[in-house]
Amino acid sequence: MNVQAGDPKLQISKHIYGQFAEHLGRCVYGGFWVDENLNVPKKDRLRLDVIEALNKIKVPNLRWPGGCFADTYHWRDGIGPRTQRPKMLNGTWGDVVEDNSFGTHEFLELCDMLHTEPYIAGNLGSGTVEEMSNWVEYLNLNGDTPLAKMRAQNGHPEPYKVSFWGTGNESWGCGGNMTPEFYADQYKRYATFAKSYPGAPLRKIASGANGDDRNWTEVCMKKIPVDQMWGISLHYYTLPTGNWSKKGPATGFDEQAYFNTVKNSLKMDEIVAAHSAIMDKYDPQKKVALVVDEWGVWTDVEPGTNPAFLYQQNTLRDALVAGTTLNIFNNHCDRVKMAELAQTINVLQALILTDKEKMLLTPTYHVFDLYQVHQDAQYLPLQFTSPDYALGKEKIPALNASASKDKDGVVHISLVNLDPKKSVKIESGIDGVAWKNVTGQILTSAKFSDYNTFDKPNNVKLAQFKGAKKRGNKLEVEVPAQSVVVLALK
Ligand code: AHR
Repeated sequence: MNVQAGDPKLQISKHIYGQFAEHLGRCVYGGFWVDENLNVPKKDRLRLDVIEALNKIKVPNLRWPGGCFADTYHWRDGIGPRTQRPKMLNGTWGDVVEDNSFGTHEFLELCDMLHTEPYIAGNLGSGTVEEMSNWVEYLNLNGDTPLAKMRAQNGHPEPYKVSFWGTGNESWGCGGNMTPEFYADQYKRYATFAKSYPGAPLRKIASGANGDDRNWTEVCMKKIPVDQMWGISLHYYTLPTGNWSKKGPATGFDEQAYFNTVKNSLKMDEIVAAHSAIMDKYDPQKKVALVVDEWGVWTDVEPGTNPAFLYQQNTLRDALVAGTTLNIFNNHCDRVKMAELAQTINVLQALILTDKEKMLLTPTYHVFDLYQVHQDAQYLPLQFTSPDYALGKEKIPALNASASKDKDGVVHISLVNLDPKKSVKIESGIDGVAWKNVTGQILTSAKFSDYNTFDKPNNVKLAQFKGAKKRGNKLEVEVPAQSVVVLALK
């Protein structure tokens, strides 16, 4: 391996480490926003133990209110006195009653407590241009208009200065079943009237492609001028089986299912590379960000839970996928400037699971904890050849990695060994930086299907890593089987 630490040219945006919270299952209601009688520390109905845990991993942005829900959401239902807010049916996710007690002000209070930037997904699917334009004015205008005054009456005289602005979600599917040609025209219409107010420039993000649908990106890049969008999104989920009707269980899987899952997660690299190459044709200066605003492992729900709530457990396998995916994003930081894991609590590949008062941190949480060192650090290119991890006739690279240098000059290398049986030995030159010692942390467990439970919340946890040393100017590491290791060279 070789790490080029001298003369870095790119930054790994902290926004790659973003999160996603939808009005889906128990993510918002019962996750962040709990019953006022639940016996946990709260501010209003915001759960403080959850917020404290998220603050430790530095969440740079939070996307809300969906997902598919966003294109059914009407923001005026979620402002004003809570007792007067209308109820609606959340027809996207289980036909449950949405009481709108968690709306714009509650979300922005949550963002404030998380020290995170809001990323609001506006309703292009079933809303109007006027409705979206009004929401932006309500949020961001410092002025004497009825909407700005209404915001003040509702408790927030200062403009919120929301900047990240999604314009529809999955417009090829749940967001309106549009063609890319139709969507691109709609985007331009909606985006024109979603205004940047003084002190609150909008970073508008177009609804992007489904996985490998390159034509979507091609058409949007061709039709939407580069200066009319800050970013375009991309959604790719890792399914263990690759089959949406039977995705495979979140726990209790065998090595074949493990292999298929990690192999499917590696596809993110070619998908991002393919969309980036299309974007390069229309935007060679890389002004438009590729925003992977939904990614993660999507399995069958936990037995006995509401199938529309997408509640799944989270094992060491999820952590290895998270480490791998974040390495991919870091290595594409010239184009990938933002990404959001789906979703923060109790839904899909969650960081946190809750059961009434109980709460646990998943293995995926620990990866975000380890990788926070890369946020806004300078990207360092790496060269290496990985040994194979083979199962039957198939093989994939066992090792993936990325590296960065932080503002204090510390070099961090994140390494993921996907092979469940063999460790990987590395000898690496570190060019262009002087360093004296190496320390590290590791996430691993006896089985790739191990997970944390409410009774044993520390089954899978971080530990100190002692398997790296400095020999001369070289770094020597033995990365244990099925592990995520992050090293710090000072
Ligand atoms: O994250 C769950 C759902 O997956 C989102 O609502 C949608 O955008 C995607 O299909």
